Amino acid sequence: MIINIMPTHQQPLALLGNITPTQFLAEYWQKKPLLIRNAIANFTGLLDANELAGLSCKEDVQARLIKQSKSKWQVIDGPFDEDFFSRLPHDKKEHNWTLLVQSVNHHLPKAAELLAKFNFIPHARLDDLMVSYAPDGGGVGPHFDSYDVFLLQGSGKRLWRVCEQQDLSLVDGVPIKILKNFVTEQEYILEAGDMLYLPPQVAHWGVAMGECMTYSIGFRAPKVEELAIEFLSFMQDNLALQGLYQDPNLTLQAHPSDVSDNMVASVSNMLKTITWDDNAVGEFLGRYLSDPKPDVIFELPRKLSLEKFNQQLMQKPIFLALKSKMLCYKTACFINGEKLDLPDSLFSSMQKLADTRCLFVNHQYLNIDDLAVLIQLLHTHYLSGYLTFKH
Ligand code: SIN
Ligand code: CO
Repeated sequence: MIINIMPTHQQPLALLGNITPTQFLAEYWQKKPLLIRNAIANFTGLLDANELAGLSCKEDVQARLIKQSKSKWQVIDGPFDEDFFSRLPHDKKEHNWTLLVQSVNHHLPKAAELLAKFNFIPHARLDDLMVSYAPDGGGVGPHFDSYDVFLLQGSGKRLWRVCEQQDLSLVDGVPIKILKNFVTEQEYILEAGDMLYLPPQVAHWGVAMGECMTYSIGFRAPKVEELAIEFLSFMQDNLALQGLYQDPNLTLQAHPSDVSDNMVASVSNMLKTITWDDNAVGEFLGRYLSDPKPDVIFELPRKLSLEKFNQQLMQKPIFLALKSKMLCYKTACFINGEKLDLPDSLFSSMQKLADTRCLFVNHQYLNIDDLAVLIQLLHTHYLSGYLTFKH
């Protein structure tokens, strides 16, 4: 698989209903919903319900089953066993259920190709591809997400109800987010290949019309508080302050238990010396946003000597493993939370790998020292399972 889809942002895309990515960003992104009929022609999905159920039985796949019986909602976490699905009812009068499988792009090369179509949104914002299956009448109820999401219809049909309502109060005591007062503003029936873009916090409710599969291409909008906490933790790891607290002018205090104003002022001044610049924030973002989720486990390849690795590298392209995430800030590159130790002269090669998830190392065009560094670096990350020659 070679992903090399870098749309020129001035070209209208069927994927966006024949507007350009530039127009989409200006008019819809984070602003209002957009319904796109036939966004991907002839799209019927990347896997069938059985294959999705099969994925949800795997140890390293994050899967949930959301079940509603009358007004009772239940969440069952995977991995499931094969029999589990045969026991589920298909009678919509009694039950409603949906199987949701996260990060399908970590397991299916075709899913990574699908995500590449959305390259007009920065990879730093990309979360994952979630795929759902529901029998007739199934859905996860009226809710809102904290994500920008493109809801692409796979097989079957789904009725979407959408509302840009202010009232986002939730039903108490249920294990998932269900809106207390959902109001239908718009209704759309999506068929295979149709897509609905929703900004974060837009209320929506999808109900399967017959068996249906939906592909959610999710773009994470991290909470400000989460970014701040993580940045402070990054700063803590990178802080190098010298010296001890000093009080050579200490005077007698009326109460020995008092933390004095002098002490507070002195420490307050000391803390004000903690500063950061955009480079620190860039490095933090590169590391944090490329960091894999805690449940991600990289598969290690069979051992390959540097020499044998280089022989392969001369013959074929190398790819980011499906679970790898790579970002760049200025001339720095980050892969799966780590900063690469890289001379500037190799940046454009690594940027190509980050942009397209693929790199063919052209041995003739690199100087001998750079080539040696590049091969060593790629080899190290190949052995960690971050890079691969095949999907
Ligand atoms: C689903 O695919 O059933 C749920 C997607 C969503 O509502 O975000
Ligand atoms: Co949703």
